[in-house]
Amino acid sequence: MAQMSIANEERKRPEAQRLMRAVVCARYGPPDVLRLADIPRPIPRNRDICVRVAATSVTSSDCIVRSGKVDPRLWLLMRLVIGLRRPRKTLGMVFAGEVASVGPEVTRFQVGDEVFGFDRFGFGAYAEFKCMRETGLVALKPANLDDEEAAAIPYGGLLALHFLTAGGIAAGQKVLVYGASGAIGSSAVQLARHFGARVTGVSGTPTSSGSGGSAPRR
Ligand SMILES: NC(=O)c1ccc[n+]([C@@H]2O[C@H](COP(=O)([O-])OP(=O)(O)OC[C@H]3O[C@@H](n4cnc5c(N)ncnc54)[C@H](OP(=O)(O)O)[C@@H]3O)[C@@H](O)[C@H]2O)c1
Repeated sequence: MAQMSIANEERKRPEAQRLMRAVVCARYGPPDVLRLADIPRPIPRNRDICVRVAATSVTSSDCIVRSGKVDPRLWLLMRLVIGLRRPRKTLGMVFAGEVASVGPEVTRFQVGDEVFGFDRFGFGAYAEFKCMRETGLVALKPANLDDEEAAAIPYGGLLALHFLTAGGIAAGQKVLVYGASGAIGSSAVQLARHFGARVTGVSGTPTSSGSGGSAPRR
């Protein structure tokens, strides 16, 4: 009941007190289309939790959505789903932070819980507060991770796990991870090793001789 009253109290506050700072996307384009702005603070409903975001990550998916540059076959679908002239939602797929308030039907989390998560196309993490369903990809943050470390894990970790599993990863296989120093690649290297594969990683940082691409490392 105490948790429910917190969300109700937020609804009763004057509009001006319910604003929060967020990085908004004024139109599709390069990174400088992003602006700091005051926007309405979200209020958790039903089974939503509202997280006070302490850390987020600029993922490659955020960059693709912000730029608006997608495969021409997906262009119309993406604009219909994400927004015709600009992304309708504040960007930011991943977050770490503290549960600030909860909806009346929430049972898994309580105010003060330290959490991290990945809300995919729910977005909204480039802001002080972000709401999502308690049944989504959100969990208690391990105590040995700080907020920045926790926010860096879900995107690359879950995508790497998805693609390795879809590829039928198994012990003894030889796996080449192209882009091994990136968000997905660095998780893919560790997960492929965890599954017992022999891993070769390639990344793109130029070598001291100036040539692109680093030597494969196992
Ligand atoms: N299909 C899907 O659902 C899906 C979803 C998410 C992402 N993606 C794609 O997956 C890729 C990786 O995503 P990410 O989030 O891990 O990106 P990221 O964090 O930006 O990492 C990119 C990686 O690619 C490496 N790289 C860049 N140029 C290279 C080159 N010329 N030769 C070899 N390696 C090079 C980088 O190496 P350095 O760090 O050394 O520069 C880094 O390891 C991106 O292309 C992204 O668009 C696909």
